Amino acid sequence: MDIKTPKLDEVLEGARRSEPVLNFLAQRRSLLVRDMKGPGPNEKQLQLILRLAARVPDHRKLFPWRFLIFQGDARAQFGEHLADKFKRDFPDADHQRTEFERNRFLRAPLVIGVISGPVLCPRGTPKWEQELSAGAVCQNMLLAARASGFGAQWLTEWYAYDADIAEILGLQSSEKIAGFVYIGTPTVPPRERPRPDLAVKVKNWPL
Ligand SMILES: Cc1cc2nc3c(=O)[nH]c(=O)nc-3n(C[C@H](O)[C@H](O)[C@H](O)COP(=O)(O)O)c2cc1C
Repeated sequence: MDIKTPKLDEVLEGARRSEPVLNFLAQRRSLLVRDMKGPGPNEKQLQLILRLAARVPDHRKLFPWRFLIFQGDARAQFGEHLADKFKRDFPDADHQRTEFERNRFLRAPLVIGVISGPVLCPRGTPKWEQELSAGAVCQNMLLAARASGFGAQWLTEWYAYDADIAEILGLQSSEKIAGFVYIGTPTVPPRERPRPDLAVKVKNWPL
């Protein structure tokens, strides 16, 4: 069934209890990239994942983020840049390690770079809030991927913070990588991991 795009000003579904959604959130986990294989989302599934990912809170409707898609041969092509940069930074690195860099983006059939691009203006939306909105995009993307039947993991790794790689990716000086969301078909079922003790994390105020 197609997931409809609501029209502007359309009255949307009101809040209601949804056990499937609550269970989905209660069981949410990332899928480690080493446990991914193809296929990835097809074009229609990808467009839906992007549409749902972009549906995040965003102070003043600035939409301060954008996406870069890596699929097919582009993943290996980008891997060449990763290997080159890695070799320049670590000329003594062994062959195996350099090959790992070359194959990084081949670990999943689809990688989506989420780029945070805060729109800066005096007395406008604080940069921090705009960056948080990009984080929300990444999280929505994980949820949309999982609800589409795929596993996903939000990674940054070294290349999200490398100036030369940023240039290869065409980032403006005001832009940063919020994350690379790897998406693929799971080879193993998810397993629960430790979760925080909310008794420690939650306090009533006044203290
Ligand atoms: C901004 C951000 C960057 C992350 N980068 C990495 C990373 O580079 N390498 C890594 O192993 N995990 C990274 N993680 C963690 C994983 O995405 C994931 O959250 C974790 O493996 C399992 O958590 P989950 O199953 O509760 O989603 C990052 C998480 C966030 C929020």
